Amino acid sequence: MTAPANPADYRAIWEAKPVLRAVYRDWYERMVSHCLPGRTLEIGGGSGNLKAFAPDVVSTDVLPADWLDTVCDAQRLPFADGSFDNIVMLDVLHHLERPVRFFDEASRVLKPGGRIVMLEPGITPVSHIFYRSFHPEPVDMAVDPYVDGPIDPDKDPYDSNQAIPTLLFGKPHDRQAFERRFEGLAAIRTERLALLIYPLSGGFRTWSLVPAGMVRPLNGLERLLVPVLGWLAAFRLLIVVESRC
Ligand SMILES: C[S@@+](CC[C@H](N)C(=O)[O-])C[C@H]1O[C@@H](n2cnc3c(N)ncnc32)[C@H](O)[C@@H]1O
Repeated sequence: MTAPANPADYRAIWEAKPVLRAVYRDWYERMVSHCLPGRTLEIGGGSGNLKAFAPDVVSTDVLPADWLDTVCDAQRLPFADGSFDNIVMLDVLHHLERPVRFFDEASRVLKPGGRIVMLEPGITPVSHIFYRSFHPEPVDMAVDPYVDGPIDPDKDPYDSNQAIPTLLFGKPHDRQAFERRFEGLAAIRTERLALLIYPLSGGFRTWSLVPAGMVRPLNGLERLLVPVLGWLAAFRLLIVVESRC
């Protein structure tokens, strides 16, 4: 089965699949742990699940859904300068047509010292093979993630390039290039995570090879293994960017 096509389909799978909720619980907890006290904006909220873990977030997406607070494009945010302490997004950066526009906007709407907390696909030798072979979204490591240009109003919000977060933040020299391009932003943390549990869970597919009850103990094991194996086999990247403006 291919990936679902809209937030309502994602929500239906979320509600029917306990193992997915167990995997995401760990991710949401990690993301929230990097947020500062104060106002949090969620971008690309999709099926709206973060609210179960952080009820006060202002949840937005470019596609409308009943459970969202606002419909807006990450590349043209309808918020005043310095409105938020945090911006959080899970699996959104790699869907943006012009990531540079988003970071300019994020820099504007964040308060000084505010944070962007992102959890995204991470490309490693093992995850690259898996994503290329079994995942419907492309991985194109040859693109320039800094290219700017017009925004296509007809772009499918689910079009993507899973390589974008790794190209921007994967290696120390990538983070230095990011900080040269966005002088007011600093990549203060990048963390590889998710070895086998995530691919075995099937993500938003209807199948899973892991029972929900095994997710917590396996997560503990993965945390021990990631420092050794993360560079080789992690599937995910947690990125924290801080506004220095
Ligand atoms: C893979 S889904 C992730 C949804 C949710 N964060 C989750 O993890 O379940 C990507 C989301 O990004 C949204 N998106 C894509 N382009 C966007 C844009 N330019 N501005 C805001 N949201 C966008 C899509 O509509 C979609 O809901």
